Amino acid sequence: MDNTTLKYFKTQLPGLAGGYSLDVPDCEIKLNQNENAWDWPATLKQEVFERVRDLPWNRYPPFQPDAFVAKVASHIGADAEQVLVGNGSNELLYAIFVSTLERGRKVVIPQPTFTVYKLLANLLGADIAVEGLDEELQFDAEALETASQDASVVVLATPNNPTGSVIDPTDLEHLVNTSGALWVIDEAYFEFHGETAIELTRNCRNLVVLRTFSKALATAGLRFGCMVAHPEARPIFSAAKLPYNLNIFTMAAVETAIDNAVTLKSRVDEIKRERERVARRLREYKGCKVYPSRANFILFETNRDPRELWKAMVSRGVLVRDVSNYPRLAKALRVSIGRPEENDAFLKALEYAITVVA
Ligand SMILES: Cc1ncc(COP(=O)(O)O)c(C=O)c1O
Repeated sequence: MDNTTLKYFKTQLPGLAGGYSLDVPDCEIKLNQNENAWDWPATLKQEVFERVRDLPWNRYPPFQPDAFVAKVASHIGADAEQVLVGNGSNELLYAIFVSTLERGRKVVIPQPTFTVYKLLANLLGADIAVEGLDEELQFDAEALETASQDASVVVLATPNNPTGSVIDPTDLEHLVNTSGALWVIDEAYFEFHGETAIELTRNCRNLVVLRTFSKALATAGLRFGCMVAHPEARPIFSAAKLPYNLNIFTMAAVETAIDNAVTLKSRVDEIKRERERVARRLREYKGCKVYPSRANFILFETNRDPRELWKAMVSRGVLVRDVSNYPRLAKALRVSIGRPEENDAFLKALEYAITVVA
């Protein structure tokens, strides 16, 4: 690349060119992004349209959307003074990292995990440590304790994406209470597991919990997430957030989602049952290793080339996630749990792929 182009950028940036990337061929069965396979009912969509139709589109959203934040806080079991809202939880992760990471600071990102963490940490020039998951890809409290000793930040997803593993709540409480680092706990898949660290945020100043409406609440296309911090820390994180980061459409949809959470989350139990059914079927394949999952996806390894399996499944109209370029996952694929008939189509496509891939 020409030097005139390069000279404006921070030194770490050209190596990150392109940013977050995803290979998404057009497939009828889409099981690659851990989305909810059930869209909103038409009546609820209509309710959002009606709420938005009557709002002034020429005005900015409320400067301090206090009532909105209070509603979100009460939904997730936090106090309003602890909550920040964002355009997807990714946006809040960005605000947290911008507030805490820079060159010379260390962040612990146990690998393999959600790729956005490392991307953002690299963007900010932080030093990254990867320890924290044992050989079975389960959280290892001792390794986390050691790695976090000189760290500024530890970020972990529980359930973790793509492994599906979760941290023991007693271990987490001990780690947070004895650590000098800020612990960022991403609970994107909370509803499929049921355990949360939100309660700890009332007393722990070094803990932040992230939540999203993209998964169980089936709202990925509208982009909404929130974070819960100690009331003293929240306004400091807030400084790293752009004003008016939520548009009125998303806000109306989130209010409707909360009012109808029981309907929108009604598939969670079915997804959990399907997860166990798919896992059982996968375990029957010779040479297939299935990682136990508490989320809406399953990580599995086979004795075939994962890229070739992925391609063979795409040829049958089934899209899963090829995670074989993640650290420690050279043999792995990840499948999101969809509707029962989609899961059947996946199992059939995998069976076919295994027969054609040497
Ligand atoms: C662990 C984790 N956190 C966050 C997200 C994204 O959340 P959002 O849609 O709220 O930005 C994902 C999406 O796959 C995820 O796996």
